[in-house]
Amino acid sequence: MTDMSAMAGEADPNDLAHPQPLYKLLRDAGAAVDMGPGDPDSPGGFANGMVIVGGTEDVRHVLAHPEIFSSGIEAVSIGQVRPLIPLQIDPPEHKNYRKLLDPIFAPRNVAKLEDQTRQLVVEMIEPLVDRGGCNFHREIAEPLPTTVFLQLLGLPVSRAREFIELKDGIIRPPVPASERVEYTNVVGEKIYAVLQEAIDERQAERSDDFISMFLDAEVDGHRLTEEDVLDICYLFFLAGLDTVTASLDCMLAYLAEHPEQRRRIVEDPAVIPHAIEEMLRWETPVPGVIRKTTQATEVGGCPIEEGRAVVVMLASANTDERSWADVDTIDFDRAENRHLAFGGGAHRCLGSHLARMELRVALEEWHRRIPDYRVPDGHQLLYFQELRAVENLELIW
Ligand code: HEM
Repeated sequence: MTDMSAMAGEADPNDLAHPQPLYKLLRDAGAAVDMGPGDPDSPGGFANGMVIVGGTEDVRHVLAHPEIFSSGIEAVSIGQVRPLIPLQIDPPEHKNYRKLLDPIFAPRNVAKLEDQTRQLVVEMIEPLVDRGGCNFHREIAEPLPTTVFLQLLGLPVSRAREFIELKDGIIRPPVPASERVEYTNVVGEKIYAVLQEAIDERQAERSDDFISMFLDAEVDGHRLTEEDVLDICYLFFLAGLDTVTASLDCMLAYLAEHPEQRRRIVEDPAVIPHAIEEMLRWETPVPGVIRKTTQATEVGGCPIEEGRAVVVMLASANTDERSWADVDTIDFDRAENRHLAFGGGAHRCLGSHLARMELRVALEEWHRRIPDYRVPDGHQLLYFQELRAVENLELIW
């Protein structure tokens, strides 16, 4: 296993806008790169130090072996008091939950949500058209998927800003790493309280929303307990609120800076689904996921001890020149695009069909109304690292 700490300085780790060269450096360093000894104060499973895996085939291997690379609660701490369902449940138990949840998020059910999503998207974009500019992150990327998702889940949209702040408190806590666990635990308690309130309301009276569906879901005689529903909702709160926001930010930033690619979308909206897949590959808004080894093992010939946190770099896997033809070309016509932006293996994203629908509808309606836009001169976009988002995405048209 290579010790990556010796390589610091060869690439600019602050160049978050274009991280692909850093990923290449990582892959060149070895199949499993040891980031050195852990810090006992680190959150989650990082106390024993982490190992990074970034080659496409090695990432697929890790994701395909949950019995060795566990997603259990120790892998990552995000303010939860029990394992998040289904993310932090390992197979075989994991399958019971996916059997219940998969049908709710199947393409045919997601298709039923498209009209209401489109109406909402149009209502949000229309008032901007004559304004000539906006902070895309604050005015579209954040509120749009948040509103869609709160409506679907059955949480009050009027409290969207409060929920966004709670979600940010977990995903981007404004405190040093050593205070992170304590801080996220406090925010986590508030999220549990909000969700418990919503579940209590649905227990009293069912409605046409996901919480009601979770309470009634049944497969092979199995039903979810109320605690299960709470643990599912906690995960959804984080997974559903942030990821589509991050993806929209990354995609609009890319399209703003590549007018020729944007023109293709405007002139031929049928290309949008392919463009989304290719931008998901290139940008990979969830750059990495975490596992913890349950036993000593190896990846690509590199030994990894038991109990190490393994950072599985999906973003690197998606730009590995050994697995992709013309890897650095963002090709909306790429024939086969088996990217890993939604992860892989048992924990592959449950919300991928919903996310794709939201992204497609947003890109269609935006480009129909605002086809020609750009980042203002001199405005430098600032990217976040953990979940790739662009908080200061200003656009003018
Ligand atoms: C473009 C947007 C999205 C991206 C890039 C994304 C990415 C991912 C990734 C990489 C994983 C795998 C995590 C792991 O292996 O540890 C995952 C899992 C998951 N995602 Fe998404 N996601 C997106 C949207 C959504 C949405 C909208 C929802 C809400 C329904 C959602 C719900 C979930 C859930 C519940 C899991 C856990 C699945 C399991 O453990 O079986 N995701 N997502």
